[in-house]
Amino acid sequence: MSSSLRGAFAATLIVVFGLPALADGDPAQGEKVFKKCLACHSVAVGAPSKVGPNLHDVAGRKTGTFEGFKFSKVMIGMGEEGHVWTPEELDKFLENPKSVAPGTKMTFAGLKKAEERADVIAYLISLHPEGAAAQAAPETEGTPTD
Ligand code: HEC
Repeated sequence: MSSSLRGAFAATLIVVFGLPALADGDPAQGEKVFKKCLACHSVAVGAPSKVGPNLHDVAGRKTGTFEGFKFSKVMIGMGEEGHVWTPEELDKFLENPKSVAPGTKMTFAGLKKAEERADVIAYLISLHPEGAAAQAAPETEGTPTD
């Protein structure tokens, strides 16, 4: 008379994917990945923007606000709504720029490999760690040491 309880647990299965690759990014590898960005982005302090804005301090920067660069409406709007380039937001944007910022002027297909994104984000953070730290949780974010 007891019925099977099969399936009773099925509905409670929740798989939570963290962002392990993001935390593991390697700035040195990221500098190589960044060659794909160099055609359009400068990174040296004070270097003039190219087709895209200078990214020296983009980690932690408010979206669409780099002085003197003419951003698309969508990027300006994101910034006005308080969007900031945290590692998570960079990850989403770099995977598929057009889905995060529909109508963006950045004509770049995206980095499909999570590892490449993690590396390039680590590289951008390494260029301006204080900006990223200001946005991160106050606990230690840890610079990669290996
Ligand atoms: C073909 C040129 C081009 C390439 C290649 C390119 N970008 Fe961009 N990027 C742009 C343009 C143009 C914008 C401004 C977008 C807008 O206003 O909508 C931009 C904007 C950005 C922003 C937002 C900056 C801000 O201040 O809000 C980030 C972050 C970014 N790019 C990162 C990258 C990274 C990392 C790569 C390489 C993986 C890359 N881009 C490759 C042209 C490019």
